[in-house]
Amino acid sequence: MDATVSTIGKFKDQQITLKGWVATKRGSGKVQFLELRDGTGTIQCVIGKKDVSEAEFAVADKLTLEAAVEVKGKVVEDARSPIGFELHTNALKLVGASAEYPIQKKEHGDAFLMDHRHLWLRSRRQHAILRIRHTIVKAVRDYFDENDFVLVDSPILTSNACEGTTTLFETPYFERKAYLSQSGQLYQEAAALAFRKSYCFGPVFRAEKSKTRRHLNEFWMVEPEVAFIELEGVMDLAEDFLCSVVERVLNKHEKDLTQILERDLTHLKNVKKPFHRLSYTDAVKRIEELEKTVTDPEVKAHMKITWGDDFGSAHETELTKQFDRPLMVHGYPAQVKAFYMKHDPANPKIARCVDVLAPEGYGEIIGGGQREDNLEVLEQSIADHQLPKAAFQWFLDLRRYGSVPHGGFGLGIERTVAWICGLHHVRETIPFARTLDRLEP
Ligand code: 4AD
Ligand code: MG
Repeated sequence: MDATVSTIGKFKDQQITLKGWVATKRGSGKVQFLELRDGTGTIQCVIGKKDVSEAEFAVADKLTLEAAVEVKGKVVEDARSPIGFELHTNALKLVGASAEYPIQKKEHGDAFLMDHRHLWLRSRRQHAILRIRHTIVKAVRDYFDENDFVLVDSPILTSNACEGTTTLFETPYFERKAYLSQSGQLYQEAAALAFRKSYCFGPVFRAEKSKTRRHLNEFWMVEPEVAFIELEGVMDLAEDFLCSVVERVLNKHEKDLTQILERDLTHLKNVKKPFHRLSYTDAVKRIEELEKTVTDPEVKAHMKITWGDDFGSAHETELTKQFDRPLMVHGYPAQVKAFYMKHDPANPKIARCVDVLAPEGYGEIIGGGQREDNLEVLEQSIADHQLPKAAFQWFLDLRRYGSVPHGGFGLGIERTVAWICGLHHVRETIPFARTLDRLEP
């Protein structure tokens, strides 16, 4: 096994080789201290003038930020080191030079950092965020894999809209037009009727012209779907699932969260069942009450609401600030929701849907609910939304042949990472963000 910084403890007092990049360097004519970053962590390499050749010491002396190097030396225990060890170097080789690395220790603006995202990924903070993202994705998959869900991948090229026609990315498809998938849900409905419990996990695309801290044009969504389930069952599933994801991250990354990302964990530790459940109608009443107490005129203007309006980000932000754990708002007005939502038989103006809103002002991370399983009602809904009926014939078949109550939800990975990591903006939660004004890097 090659030694890496992450496995350094196994090599105590041994001579090893490490390959990596210069994270920082300081020193004098007698000794150089090189902070080596090898992708798994960083370690201090002490390079004494008498321990290496003259030529090697000269190389060490001239090393610049992010130059690639290979060092050999002895692993020595050191109580002052954050990882408990340092490397007493006795050989050093330059692998790749690095002239004037653009990202320096000083503060850089957001736009500059996003323009240099391909390099910014090397920073300690970005490492913490993307490692936590990895853990979240793994926890998501493990949850569904361990609970009898079958992975059924939904296609990305589709001929129909799932979440409304205004945010479709169009692309030529031979003689026809295709759209990049906004959600894998419709195909999961077919999968759930075939496998009972299914999920998909992949990138989805929305041509949204919004420049908010919550919107990306390409993002990752996990979408479970279950046959023989109703709205309450969907809410129970979302709650159990989120608790398990947050618990996994807290177990694995408490130090990254508190020390690197300076995240206060009080609210995250509250992510336990039961979550608060509030009907849309009651949530509107809460927002109206809250609006009276808000003093900031700008926030106040965005807090105005009448029954029937969808929530804006100010509504979600102010509402979730009132709760110590995620909030599930159910039963939104059918008119603001997608065509496939099950209409409440007792009040057809209401959709049997749920949004899970993350606390601390983060807002919606999950959208889902029960699906319309009645053929005639769904046909009417497709017509009401002015969607092309032909593209949905296969979807209507699911109501023609053994239709059952069913439902599920979609969780946006980036908003979840932003919330768990306590980040202001989603742009740092995905390796290479696609936003209104960014297609590079
Ligand atoms: O609420 P949405 O639009 O729901 C659906 O697409 C359903 N078809 C999912 C389902 O029931 N299977 O999106 C689900 C989640 C949101 O709650 C949010 O977390 C995320 O996807 N999301 C976005 N994340 C980043 N940027 C955007 N533009 C997003 N739009 C939605
Ligand atoms: Mg939604």
